[in-house]
Amino acid sequence: MKLHLKIWRQKNPQDKGRFVDYHIEGVESDMSFLEMLDYLNEQLIARGEEPVAFDHDCREGICGMCSLFINGQAHGPEKLTTTCQLHMRKFKDGDTIVIEPWRAGAFPVIKDLVVDRSAFDRIQQAGGYISAYTSGRTVEANNIPIPKKDADRAFDSATCIGCGACVATCKNASAMLFVAGRVAHLARLPQGRVEAAERVQKMVAAMDAEGFGACSNTGACEVACPKGISLADIALLNREFIKSEMEI
Ligand code: SF4
Ligand code: FES
Repeated sequence: MKLHLKIWRQKNPQDKGRFVDYHIEGVESDMSFLEMLDYLNEQLIARGEEPVAFDHDCREGICGMCSLFINGQAHGPEKLTTTCQLHMRKFKDGDTIVIEPWRAGAFPVIKDLVVDRSAFDRIQQAGGYISAYTSGRTVEANNIPIPKKDADRAFDSATCIGCGACVATCKNASAMLFVAGRVAHLARLPQGRVEAAERVQKMVAAMDAEGFGACSNTGACEVACPKGISLADIALLNREFIKSEMEI
């Protein structure tokens, strides 16, 4: 397969950045999108050029490190799929593929396609946890019966991998879906109720302090999310926030 790639290159956070054109041949349809970039980088290194910087880790759709806006879509054209799980069979010989980093004020570009997502870590640290013993003095999990429906819904919310596609896709660069997943996961379990009011207040305050935009219920985040986190979690986040105003 021959491809024409238009890739965002940016030396550092201060550089203005620009698109650079690359033509590559010999791309296999079974390659993952990241393997295609590895293949390009091997050629750039062999020519003495700077390889394209991009984020990745597990390459199994579970760590949330991969990102990339591909032809204007976060994580590319395949629904419920991370960039690392996208394969070149989704593209055709001769295609032009435009590859950009996430674009959001709270996710500044570090280099090329790599952005700084540490704002998510700070939101998580503000309240995305429970204060319970996790070693030594733990309680047998089955001592607290939890209805299957609640356990399943909490698990669905917990599958967020923190990739940031929701922010990159949102016209307001809102982090509501990410925060909603965290809050909804714990709000649905008895262990999470203890600090629920404090948690939602602190996480929303941290989200605002990081400069993410407000939610205007457009729903683009849900469409782009590779893990299917639902807008219903944003509704729950809003309910939890309103309740917490009366409790704190
Ligand atoms: S809600 Fe979805 S898109 Fe947003 S960070 Fe979590 S997994 Fe990624
Ligand atoms: S590299 Fe881990 S989810 Fe894509």
